This record gives sequence, structure tokens and C-alpha cells, in this order.
Amino acid sequence: MDSFIIEGQKSLNGYIRLHGAKNSALPILASTILIHGVSVIHNCPDLSDVNETVKILESLGCKVARSGSTITVDATTVNSSSIDEQAMRSMRSSIIFLGALMSRATCASIYFPGGCDIGARPVDLHLKALKSLGAVINENGSSIECCAQKIIGGKIILPIPSVGATENIIIAAAVSKGRTTIINPAREPEISDLAGFLNNCGARIFGAGETTIEIEGVERLTPCEYTIIPDRILASTYMSACAITGGEIVIEDVLPTHLSPIFPAFNEMGCKLYLSGNILKICAPKHLKRVRSIKTMPYPGFPTDSQSPIVAALSVAKGTSVIKETVFENRFRYVSELRRFGADIDINEQLAVINGVKKLHSANVNATDLRGGAALVVAALAAEGESTVNYVNHIDRGYENLELALSSLGGAVKRIYNEKD
Ligand code: UD1
Repeated sequence: MDSFIIEGQKSLNGYIRLHGAKNSALPILASTILIHGVSVIHNCPDLSDVNETVKILESLGCKVARSGSTITVDATTVNSSSIDEQAMRSMRSSIIFLGALMSRATCASIYFPGGCDIGARPVDLHLKALKSLGAVINENGSSIECCAQKIIGGKIILPIPSVGATENIIIAAAVSKGRTTIINPAREPEISDLAGFLNNCGARIFGAGETTIEIEGVERLTPCEYTIIPDRILASTYMSACAITGGEIVIEDVLPTHLSPIFPAFNEMGCKLYLSGNILKICAPKHLKRVRSIKTMPYPGFPTDSQSPIVAALSVAKGTSVIKETVFENRFRYVSELRRFGADIDINEQLAVINGVKKLHSANVNATDLRGGAALVVAALAAEGESTVNYVNHIDRGYENLELALSSLGGAVKRIYNEKD
């Protein structure tokens, strides 16, 4: 597994453009198997999770090509409805193929997904919802078989607004008989992006981003060209990296409304934010201030994926910050690695109490998951001396060449390739 070597205490300055949103690219690519024809998806980030998704599409018989950030998927040749166990375990969002395959091939045969170890992450809501749409599901502990001769619209009430379950329902119900209503769906921008793509292909999905989604099933979808939204979590990671290094950066291609849940925290930290259309400038103070309280919540709340990088930044803020994680039960695993830099953070179940220290020192740390790994990079950027972050394969799942992006802003981040991989 590769590592990053980071020489800290270099403030970040300059311009950086966001790549496309990982969490949009994955469901949108999976949903292309519904479409008889060639889908053209622009702004697809070059991430290991996207590459795994492409491999799954190919294993199902799709012809996939990438040119720069554009991926074309020809799904006319889909000839399989099963995904092997290794591919399913490569990432959590492989579960999104369930609804798509069931719709395209009548039956889907898959395994329980893997992904970041940030909590139990069951898929009960996905399965229950698909049953409501007429699926017959057989599970045997490791594999899932899901069949429906015809997907029939229904009313689904989600007890929690699960992003993945909402996506699976939207994808499964897009081509169906009748009307599907989702009460309490996830409202994340990536849900609206998925609906936007499918609607461009002829689907009739209304209310994405709101508290009720209505889907009028259509008989067939036709191919379209679509551009994925910019990655708001990447923006929050750059902002955290800028904040901890006392830098001044301009982030291009932001969608301000998607970032509005995190702006108050950065303001409270003493950062100045300037917006001009799709451009955000962030100017960090020399010494960050603490944030009284942040609670992660489903959108439009503070995103759980932005929690780890901001905790890293707050580790050097003046005063004590408190962050409550309400979405995943095991999302502070990276904190024990963060302490190796000298961070003073107490974890009490879902609560992190961050007592800001004057400075961090260098450390040799292991990334434990995608966003936790990014938090370690943020800390290393501010630490005195040279730090090593190992297992950056976790980071590569969601950040495209993070070392190059941060180096272009003046950070000193080098990748060490591990020959043994
Ligand atoms: C997606 C995102 C992830 C983000 C998360 C929350 C992708 C590829 N990943 O993950 O980056 O952190 O949303 O914004 O888009 N749950 C159940 N049963 C289920 C499904 C979920 O109990 O069947 C629980 C989960 O354990 C978790 C909560 O619901 O506690 C939210 O999970 P969910 O919104 O489904 O997250 P993901 O779709 O896995």
C-alpha cells in the first residue's frame, strides 16, 4: 500500500478546481445499466471506487471507455445479472447495483457489500424497500438474490433518510409500472444529481432534494449526456487543509448551496469566506478559533463525511470544540491516529471533545478509512517536521491525486509507491 510523506507547516495558497462528486458518480454509473444505449457521463473523477464501479459494469457485459473525465457506458450488451463477491466487497456502494440489475435483468445475484469500516452499515432498508416494489429476496448471510418479474410502484416510508436506500429505490422504480412515493428520502445533492441524470434519460422523478419523492415509472429510458456535480466533500477537505495551515486558497467550481451547511463552522473558526458565483475564496487566520458545537446530520445538516477533516483542523484551534457524530456509530476511529501528532481529543461514544493544542508534531500514522485518512493528511500539513501517512489506498477511493492537488497549493506531499503491492 502506498504512503504519503508530508513535510508540514507550509501554508496552502493558490487556485484549485474541484473534481466531480464521487457519491454522484457511483450511483449514476450504476444506473446506466438501465439504459439501452450509450450514456456519456462527464466530470467523472479518477478514483479507485469509480474504477471498481467500471469493472463491475464491464463484468456485467457493458462496454465502458474513459477519455479524460468522461466515461461512456454502452449497456446494450448487458449479459449477466450477478456480481462476484470480491467486487461487491470492494466498496459499500456496490449495493446500488441491486435495484439497477433487478430492473434491467429481472433478477440480481450479488453479495453483501464491503466499504469503509465506519459502523455496522446494514442494508436492511434497501432490501425492505425493494420488497415493497415487488421484489422477492433470498439472503443466505453472504449473498442476496433479488427477483421481480415486474417492478410495481408503491409507497415507501424510510425510518432514516438513507442515501443508498433512496438511490436504490429511485433506480429500481425509474422503469416500473405505476407510481412510487418515498417518504423521508435522503435529500443530499447527490440524490438530486442521480434524479437529474435519470430524468434527462426520460425518467419522471419529482421532488428529489425534498421531503417526499414521487417517481412515475416509465417503460424505457433513452441515453443522454450528463455532467456530474462538483464534490462538496472535497471542497470541505481543501477548506480544512487551508484552515489548519493558515492559508488562502480559491476553490473553483463550487456549488455554494451544497456547501452552506459547513460555512458557519469555518466562519466560527475565524476563516473569511468570499463567494463569487461558483468560486469560493477562503482566508484562514493565523490562529484558528474553536467551534462551540457541531452535530453531523443528514443533508442539509453538517455532513458526516466532512467531520474528520474539520476535527483535524480544530485540533490546533484555540479553545475546546465539541463534535457529535449522529450518522455512523464508528466514525472516530482515525482519532487514535490523530493523537499521534499530539492532538488532544477525548472520545465519549459519539462525542469528540477537541482541546486545541498550540502545535502538532510529526508522526507516522495509518489511514483507517477514506475521510479519516484525509484528516491525517490535513494534520500532517500543519505538523512540525516530516510525517508519513500509510495505507493511502483508503484516500485514493475518494480523492483524485490528493498529493498533486495539495502540492499545487504549496503543500509538500509526496507519494511513496510500495513495490510489494
Ligand atoms: C452515503 C455516502 C457516504 C456518506 C453517507 C451519509 C455514498 C457512496 N456514500 O453512504 O459517503 O457518509 O451516505 O451521508 O454515497 N442504514 C441502515 N440500514 C440501511 C442503510 C443505512 O441502518 O439499510 C444506516 C447506516 O448504518 C447509517 C445511516 O443509515 O447509520 C446512514 O447511512 P446511508 O445514508 O445509507 O449511507 P450510505 O448510503 O452507505
